[in-house]
Amino acid sequence: MAQIRAENVEKHFGHVQALGRLHLEVETNEFVSVLGPSGCGKTTLLRIVAGLVPPDGGTVYVDGEPVTGPRPNTTLVFQHFRLLPWRTAEDNVAYGLRLRGMAKRQAREEVRPYIEMVGLEGFEKSYPYQLSGGMQQRVGLARALAIDPEILLMDEPFGALDAQTREVMQEELLRIWNATHKTVVFVTHSIDEALVLSDKVVVMAARPGRIIETIEVPFPRPRPTNLRADPVFAQLRTRMWELLRTTEPEETGVAGG
Ligand SMILES: Nc1ncnc2c1ncn2[C@@H]1O[C@H](COP(=O)(O)OP(=O)(O)OP(=O)(O)O)[C@@H](O)[C@H]1O
Ligand SMILES: [Mg+2]
Repeated sequence: MAQIRAENVEKHFGHVQALGRLHLEVETNEFVSVLGPSGCGKTTLLRIVAGLVPPDGGTVYVDGEPVTGPRPNTTLVFQHFRLLPWRTAEDNVAYGLRLRGMAKRQAREEVRPYIEMVGLEGFEKSYPYQLSGGMQQRVGLARALAIDPEILLMDEPFGALDAQTREVMQEELLRIWNATHKTVVFVTHSIDEALVLSDKVVVMAARPGRIIETIEVPFPRPRPTNLRADPVFAQLRTRMWELLRTTEPEETGVAGG
């Protein structure tokens, strides 16, 4: 079980209303993507769901329990890999387990399947500076998976990667999701990425951050390899493109982070 329900969630930063009475439901084992313009509150939403910051109003429930702080069954994967530069790939992956008090040797044992899952065999002893961006992001992904959370919150995890590496990582994530069936909330700026990966896409608008549309993605799983050539894919892409265009805020000089 790992069902998320956000009810009337509000967040202000000074005069900026980052989120305004937002509702979101994510079913157990569902993969939901969040699309929206910069500054519409996507990261804020993930941080609230993760229990890292409290909302000013409303409540997030996980399996019916109000979220009041970080939970062991939920992890957040950041856009920037946030690896520890002085630790090897394997020790970065093991870091979450070490934080939970596991001995180093055992943690290294435990993370081996996750290192294989993300295709990093042979690079266990490399330091982050010796790894490409895509490999660093694999380390970040393996670190999140190694904790074996029920809920994975991913904040533009592939945003810093080149287009080709990004598609490879999408394939990897689909494969991992097919094997593990986590509940995933995935923030992205890429319509294609959202369509390829998700069961459902929510589109947000800014100031206040809110959900303006929820779109069910009808493609079967495992996803066909030629998905992008499907006419329904093109239709959905056009629809989302138009929605996003209407959500672009007027020039106000207030930039999102
Ligand atoms: N810690 C903070 N202090 C002040 N304002 C903040 C803080 N965090 C977010 N904000 C503001 O809240 C709004 C939403 O920010 P958030 O980072 O959630 O947007 P986002 O949708 O993730 O944007 P992006 O796509 O650029 O990452 C923005 O106007 C931002 O400036
Ligand atoms: Mg963000």
